[in-house]
Amino acid sequence: MPDLILALDVLSRSEALRVADAAAPHLDAIKIGYPLVLAAGLDIAGPLSGFGIPLIADFKVADIPNTNRLIAEQVFAAGFSAIICQGFCGSDSVAACVEAADDAGGECYVVTEMSHPGALEFLSGKNAELLAQMAVDVGAHGIIAPATRPERVQTLRAIIGEKKILSPGVGAQGGDPAVIAPLIDGMIVGRAIYTAENPAKAARAYAEFRR
Ligand code: XMP
Repeated sequence: MPDLILALDVLSRSEALRVADAAAPHLDAIKIGYPLVLAAGLDIAGPLSGFGIPLIADFKVADIPNTNRLIAEQVFAAGFSAIICQGFCGSDSVAACVEAADDAGGECYVVTEMSHPGALEFLSGKNAELLAQMAVDVGAHGIIAPATRPERVQTLRAIIGEKKILSPGVGAQGGDPAVIAPLIDGMIVGRAIYTAENPAKAARAYAEFRR
């Protein structure tokens, strides 16, 4: 059953540390991205590392290989354990992130099909399946796939085999944790935890799906 990954999309250092402190006993990783890093700086990774939980950088990196490599190196130097990149820029761009991850002893996850409705306009169906196959071919450690569409997660699982699937979309986006948990390796939950009146209690409830 999956790890529980908190998507910590809060907008200040103090709020990030408050929520992380409350939820940490129930978490396997913390994912942070542009909202928190733009508000609090990349060095928010320092105090968050203090909780002893791996940090995932969700920058959905999507550039030419050299720029991807430069971004990924900064991410791992800042103390992150994993990076999320887009696949649609092509295998060479993804490979740059994978190589930086391998060099740092970290992991790289490739976005396939996203969890929101608009994802179906361009990056679903066959394109998502091609992205999943490419993630395998370049040696990525796993993919990001939508908890809002469990049947698509099953299709993508058939392509990637034992590689990991991290899945956002549970809670605020309507994904059902009981349905998705058996299909994935990491369940990403944001608003349903960090906006809860009691983030510790909310995290504990989602952590139940790990068992
Ligand atoms: P919520 O608040 O909806 O937060 O639980 C979800 C978190 O996951 C991110 N997200 C995605 N990231 N592919 C990704 O790589 C996706 O399909 C996807 N859907 C949501 C979102 O930015 C937030 O941090």
